[in-house]
Amino acid sequence: MFSLRLDCLFRFGVVRPPYLMPEGDCAVFQKDRFIEDCKAAVADGQKAIREVVLESVAAPSGVIAELGEPTQAGVFPLYQADDLTVINFIWAPYMTLLPHNHRMFAVIGIYGGREDNLFWRRIGDAHAAPALEAAGAESMGVGQAATLGPEIIHSVANPIRKLTSAIHVYGGDFFNPPQPRSQWDHETLTEQPWDMAHTREVFRQADIRFGAGLAAGAGD
Ligand SMILES: [Fe+2]
Repeated sequence: MFSLRLDCLFRFGVVRPPYLMPEGDCAVFQKDRFIEDCKAAVADGQKAIREVVLESVAAPSGVIAELGEPTQAGVFPLYQADDLTVINFIWAPYMTLLPHNHRMFAVIGIYGGREDNLFWRRIGDAHAAPALEAAGAESMGVGQAATLGPEIIHSVANPIRKLTSAIHVYGGDFFNPPQPRSQWDHETLTEQPWDMAHTREVFRQADIRFGAGLAAGAGD
C-alpha cells in the first residue's frame, strides 16, 4: 500500500513503518496496492483489515494525493468482489445518513474532516415504532478508524462545515449483500428494506445543498 521515497530514507536515516512518519508524510498511498493488501487481509478478518486501513489514514496527504482532493459528496467504489468492497465515501457538510446495518463487517478510516457515528440497538417488535434506540456513539477524526461488527446498526453524520473523506472497507459485497439488509426511517425509526438508491439520493441531495451553500456564500 505504501512505498517510500529515497529522500525520506535519507532524511530519517533508518527505514521506519510509514505510520511513524511525521506530518508532511513521506508515505505514498497507492490505491492498487491498498486493495491488494485488503484482499490479502480479508480472510484474516476485520482486525487485519483495520491494520491496513489505519496505516493508510495515518498518512492522509498520501491518500489525497492518490484519490484526489475531494470536491463532491458521493459514494465512490474503489473495489467490489464477493468477499470485499472498498468505497471512498465523501460526506457533504452537515449531512446525515439514516440508521442502517451491513450484515458484514466494516472498517471505517478517516483521511479528512470528521465522521460521527451513532450506534443503535433494536427494541421491541421490529414492526413497531420506534424499533431502535440509541446505544452509543463514536466521533472519528483524521487518522482514526472504527471497526463495526456484522450486526451493528449505525447512522452517520458529518458535523463540520467542510467535506469529510473516508475509506470504508467491507467484508463482503456491499452492493449485493448475501443477507437482506435494513435501514430505519430517521424520523420514525421504523425498519425498512435497505435501499442503495435511497442512499445515493441522500448523497446527491446533500451535494446539491453543499453547492447551493457555496454559491450563496456560506463558505466551504
Ligand atoms: Fe454504514
